[in-house]
Amino acid sequence: MLTHAENETLCRVGRDTPMGKVMRRYWHPIAASDQLPTPDSDPLRVTLLGEKLVVFRDSAGKVGVLEENCMHRGASLALGRVEDGGIRCLYHGWKFGTDGTIQETPNNPDPRLRQRLKQPCHPVREEGGIIWTALVSKGQQTPVFRRYSFMDTQPDHRLVLRINVKANYLQLWEGGADSSHVGILHSDAARPGWLTDEAVRDDRASNPANLAVPDNAPTFEVEDTEYGFHYAAMRRLPGPDGSLRVTNIRVVPLIMPYVRIIPAPNSFYHVFEVPEDDTSTATYIVIHGYSKPNVREIMKILALDDPRYYNPETRDLLMSWDNQFGQDRKAMKSSHWTGLGGVEREDAAVSLSMGAIYDRTKEHLVAADGAVMRLRRRLLDCVRAVEASEEPLGARTRMPRFRGDGRTSAITMKFRRRPPSDARRCPTNRIALRGAGRWPLCDALRSRRASWSHGQWAGGRSRRRESIQRPVAGPRTLDHPFGGGYHRCRACAGR
Ligand code: FES
Ligand SMILES: [Fe+2]
Repeated sequence: MLTHAENETLCRVGRDTPMGKVMRRYWHPIAASDQLPTPDSDPLRVTLLGEKLVVFRDSAGKVGVLEENCMHRGASLALGRVEDGGIRCLYHGWKFGTDGTIQETPNNPDPRLRQRLKQPCHPVREEGGIIWTALVSKGQQTPVFRRYSFMDTQPDHRLVLRINVKANYLQLWEGGADSSHVGILHSDAARPGWLTDEAVRDDRASNPANLAVPDNAPTFEVEDTEYGFHYAAMRRLPGPDGSLRVTNIRVVPLIMPYVRIIPAPNSFYHVFEVPEDDTSTATYIVIHGYSKPNVREIMKILALDDPRYYNPETRDLLMSWDNQFGQDRKAMKSSHWTGLGGVEREDAAVSLSMGAIYDRTKEHLVAADGAVMRLRRRLLDCVRAVEASEEPLGARTRMPRFRGDGRTSAITMKFRRRPPSDARRCPTNRIALRGAGRWPLCDALRSRRASWSHGQWAGGRSRRRESIQRPVAGPRTLDHPFGGGYHRCRACAGR
């Protein structure tokens, strides 16, 4: 539970709010590149952290992010013409370049005005199929641009989705820190045998909710990192003697201020919950892996394949109480847990159902919410850091790297307890470790602590050394080739 003041601190993102100041220390996705597919595409009217902006691609393909209202007398540039290397305001024809320079002022022939003034604008990068910007306050340095592994993947191995949801970013992001909901809210994707209580595993390789173990009360290990924290959710099954043994470990990094990385059997899902304002969020999901993404399968899993509830042009999620979120009550009786189609619509629906900003003074947290509590604590750490004129978490640190081009990286993690012996015996884990290349070289190795890759036990000390000396391409024949599959391997699936 939070106090009202803490809740306000975490949720409000305007320029003069504590969290707004934190957010302005990072770069943010502002559009998917394919929203401006060609030079001189139609401009986009966007909101980021409560600020109204226009994004356009000029005739040379360069992207500009300008304040929306024309500096002359305030008409929206989103109505403007994109032509001849700039964007032209409809009202009196002032034309601006991507860097805000005034190129033409038809109603004012004096060139000195053009030299003296500039339309307010923001820095732009285009990487990984996303257009990024930073809202830098006066007197502040431009933040460090953080590189994610999907930026180094070949473009056709990557899928970038954007979904606009009318809810506060924290509601959506807390869902990412909450592993215990996966096997319940996403029952159809996580444990398709739920209706008959059978232990059936979903066989879709792109499924980020693909749990191998129907244990809905996972235990957690949570560890702080430079970028925020990561957690391991451990799920158990009864062994031959009836005692519960950990057979499934799912590790998720939570990267300040709103990023998470979710493992699927054949890929990683980087998810960004970008606050448009206090009550709207642009969710970006970037999927990358060894092979080309199976777009049809992914859209089906996420339930974004139904134009009644997701508009692929505007990227708006069309769900509210007005249409009962599109919930199919009949299907709920016979075949579907939520009646909400699939993973993204399910996540968004529960967040939307809380209201635009949930009042966290009313909640009742349990042990399974441990990672949610840590997320809030780490965000408040960021607030305190900025108040003390320090950098917030992860603003200058390297991101965890997951590569979809045959090499991979691993998150390592110190466990308070000894790793489960079952996991250490798993033969596939050893193969997966070799696929992990040089990345297990980490503090855990140096100090000989227990080390886990992204979801799997990273093997004994000698094997770790081998992986460092001889990095090899990931084994393509495995279900989980990244060394990071988070479910039980094939070799022990029958045990
Ligand atoms: S308001 Fe834009 S040119 Fe006058
Ligand atoms: Fe979810």
